[in-house]
Amino acid sequence: MDFKSNIIVEKLPKHIAIIMDGNGRWAKNQGLLRVKGHERGTKAVRDTVEGCAELGVKNLTLYAFSTENWNRPKLEVQTLMKLLVSSLKKEIKTLQENKIKLQAIGCIENLPSKARKELSEVMSKTARNTHMTLTLALSYGSREEIIQVVKKISDKVKNNIIDSESIDESTINKHLYTQNLPDVDMMIRTSGEQRISNFLLWQMAYAELYFTDVLWPDFRKENLFEAIYEYQKRERRFGKTSEQL
Ligand code: IPE
Ligand code: IPE
Ligand code: MG
Repeated sequence: MDFKSNIIVEKLPKHIAIIMDGNGRWAKNQGLLRVKGHERGTKAVRDTVEGCAELGVKNLTLYAFSTENWNRPKLEVQTLMKLLVSSLKKEIKTLQENKIKLQAIGCIENLPSKARKELSEVMSKTARNTHMTLTLALSYGSREEIIQVVKKISDKVKNNIIDSESIDESTINKHLYTQNLPDVDMMIRTSGEQRISNFLLWQMAYAELYFTDVLWPDFRKENLFEAIYEYQKRERRFGKTSEQL
């Protein structure tokens, strides 16, 4: 089936978040080192970003490295950081051609200085692009993010900048790393795992969850189009009844 031509442009998800999982298993299946799986994963990233840009999806957030991933073997962490730097250098062209703005969320200060430098360069070069926003979650953990929010808001309450009685959902939204992004409409996770792994817990409160067995290095535009096609078949009720919609 040609999923792409069956996608309704007016009903595109405004924000897609992806847990790019399965690089290690992909490599193992090929008899390769895990690192090779991460390398091949960058192809899937490019294809997915281009697919979103082609359709006109406004916001794509990719989970690239979690706060928990720091607990992986040192060599794997180092390789992932190097891969981040080399991908940023390589992909700047794709970002500019597709008018994509790059931003990052997470404990960016914990990244190695080379990665921080490359990130800030690409972010400033692409800052004025408006076709799409690509957000990389790096050293990101949703609980860590929420802790930051609580600290910032309680500081403001203490200094009488915010009245605690006035705290509502929008107060929280404004203090999240994702403050400039709409809620996640669809979350895709590859590799068959069906869990959230500390990703965008608040932002995904009403997201449609889509799980596929495809391993991330094998994920292509067609898989993305299929996911969006499936998303558009779902009825999002937000607590209401079907008849009310
Ligand atoms: C996802 O693939 C990439 C990162 C978490 C950085 P994995 O490395 O988790 O691959 P599996 O789950 O071991 O197959
Ligand atoms: C989640 O994948 C993090 C990223 C994709 C960056 P993991 O492979 O680390 O997740 P768990 O630990 O298996 O849940
Ligand atoms: Mg994994």
